[in-house]
Amino acid sequence: MLLKPLLTADQIAQRIAELGAQITADYQGQELILLGVLKGCHPYLSDLARSIDLPMQIDYVQVASYHGQQISSGAVRFKRDHEIPIEGKHVLLVEDIVDTGLTLGYLRELLETRQPASLAVTALLNKVEARTHDVPVEYIGFDIPNRFVVGYGLDDEERYRNLPYVAVLGD
Ligand code: IMP
Ligand code: MG
Repeated sequence: MLLKPLLTADQIAQRIAELGAQITADYQGQELILLGVLKGCHPYLSDLARSIDLPMQIDYVQVASYHGQQISSGAVRFKRDHEIPIEGKHVLLVEDIVDTGLTLGYLRELLETRQPASLAVTALLNKVEARTHDVPVEYIGFDIPNRFVVGYGLDDEERYRNLPYVAVLGD
């Protein structure tokens, strides 16, 4: 498989520093819950959390929507729920990528029923052209073309998550 670099580690680091500063300013005086969407969120959440200068708690949810394929199966399945109660809290959901928007639409709707004080979403990557479900993403790292990408947490059948950069996967 051919890896065609799309975003360098430096570009990613720089953008995360900007987003961290913006989030710090937007939530001044408040405490946050960062809710990572496993598994792809882990490098992004880890870097973003350290660039936000606010008190925070960190927890995770896990859903399955792809089932090891490169195209969306159209079904979302809940695999792990968060442990920290979010009622009355400011929640920032942390996603690696928003593609069709199906996963995020499902998660937003579900989490809203738990009555957080506020709910916002950050996604490192946004495939604008692939969107079939109209769902708000408050903090976007990069808009990217509608190609299958790996690295920096993103996988192809669980591989490439450890790449320090984002690449388009081709053959
Ligand atoms: P959506 O529900 O179609 O928005 O897809 C969301 C999930 O599909 C993401 O959280 C990823 O786990 C996965 N996904 C979407 N596009 C890609 C990609 O280009 N590479 C790797 N995983 C992807
Ligand atoms: Mg994901």
